[in-house]
Amino acid sequence: MLAGNSIGKEFVVTSFGESHGKYIGVVVDGCPAGLPLSETDVQAELDRRLPLQPKIVSGRIEKDAVQILSGVFNGFTTGAPISMTVENKEADSSDYEAIKDLPRPGHADYTARIKYGGFSDYRGGGRFSGRVTVAMIMAGAVAKKLLRVFDVDVLAYTKAIGNVVMSKSLGFEEIRKRRYEAAVRCPDLACAEAMEEAIVKARKEGDSLGGIIECLALNVPAGVGEPLFDSLDADLAKMLLTIPAVKGVEFGAGFKAAELRGSENNDAYLMRKGKIDTLTNNAGGILGGISSGMPIMVRVAVKPTPSIAKEQRTVNLPKMENTTMKITGRHDPCVVPKAVPVVESAVAIILADHMIRAGFIPKVLKERK
Ligand SMILES: Cc1cc2nc3c(=O)[nH]c(=O)nc-3n(C[C@H](O)[C@H](O)[C@H](O)COP(=O)(O)O)c2cc1C
Repeated sequence: MLAGNSIGKEFVVTSFGESHGKYIGVVVDGCPAGLPLSETDVQAELDRRLPLQPKIVSGRIEKDAVQILSGVFNGFTTGAPISMTVENKEADSSDYEAIKDLPRPGHADYTARIKYGGFSDYRGGGRFSGRVTVAMIMAGAVAKKLLRVFDVDVLAYTKAIGNVVMSKSLGFEEIRKRRYEAAVRCPDLACAEAMEEAIVKARKEGDSLGGIIECLALNVPAGVGEPLFDSLDADLAKMLLTIPAVKGVEFGAGFKAAELRGSENNDAYLMRKGKIDTLTNNAGGILGGISSGMPIMVRVAVKPTPSIAKEQRTVNLPKMENTTMKITGRHDPCVVPKAVPVVESAVAIILADHMIRAGFIPKVLKERK
C-alpha cells in the first residue's frame, strides 16, 4: 500500500521533504510528452508564494529557486518522471528545541509524535509544515501549463480574511488581472486593504486569522470526472483538504444549498449562441461528479494559523504535566495569502489528472518533426 505521499492516477504527484530538511521536492509522473517546460515557468509560480508585505507574513522570506532534475529535454517534457526540488536555505530550528516536548495547540505536533513514536522531524512542523505546499506549487506549475494548452485556466483569490468579506462581484478578467496585486491576494483592492489591516491587528494582539479562498476553473470541457469514488468533486475536495490548515471545501452554492428550494437551487438550462448554458451556477460546474462545462467554482475555509504569540495551555509530554507556552519564531499571522497559489495548484493537478483520464489530453501533445 502507498504511504500517502502521492495523489492522482494518470498525472501522479509524489511529494517529499520537511520544513527544516535539506530539500522540498516533487515527482510528477504521467505528464504528456511535448509540453514546453522550463525552470522559469515553475519559478514564476513559486514566486507567487513570496511574501510581498512583511507586515502580514512570517520573517521567513523563502526565496525558493527550483531545479528541474529530470523529465525535460531540449525544452520539452519527455514523458518520463519530472522531478523538481528547492533547497531549504532559510531554516532556523532554534525556536523548536525549547518547545519540542510541548505540542502546539492546533498544530500537528501531538498527532505526529503519537503516530511516529517520537521519530518524526518536529523542526518547523517537519512534514506538517506549510513548506510542503512548495511541492504542490511545483507540480501545479506543470499542471497549469498543460491545462493552458487546452485553454483551461485556474484562478484562485482571497474571498475573506476573518470577518472581512469581499462582497463585490468581479468578472473573470478582473480577477485574472488583479488577484496577485495586493499582498493578501484579494482582487478587490479596497477590500484587500481592510483585510490587511485585520491581519496586522490580529498579529499585534499576538493572534492569527483564517479566511476563505475561492477558486475558478474556466473552460473545463463537459464530461470530465469518473464514477462514484473517483468523482471530480470528491478528488478535488481530497486534494484541497491535504493543504495544511484547510478545514472545509464547498462547491457552487455549497452549504447554502441546504437552505434553498429545488426551484432556487437548480441551474436551469438554456441555449446561448448555439451552446448549452445554465442560468445560474449553484452546482459549481460539477453534476454527478462530472464537469458540466460551466465554470468550476470551489471555496476552501482556512483556519487561523495555530502558532500564535498569545499564551496557551499545553502539556509537557515527557513529564505529563500541565503547563503553558508562548510561541516565538517566524509564523504567518494568516496563511491565506500564501495558500492562494497552492489552491490554484491543487485544483490544476486534479484537473490535469482527470482530463488525461477522460481522454481530453493525449499522452503526446504533438509529434516532434
Ligand atoms: C502556506 C502555509 C503556511 C503555513 N504557515 C504556518 C505557520 O507559519 N505557522 C503555523 O503554525 N502553521 C502554519 N500553517 C498551517 C499548519 O501547517 C497546519 O495548521 C498544521 O499542519 C496542522 O494541520 P491542519 O491545520 O490541516 O490540521 C501553514 C499552512 C500553509 C498552507
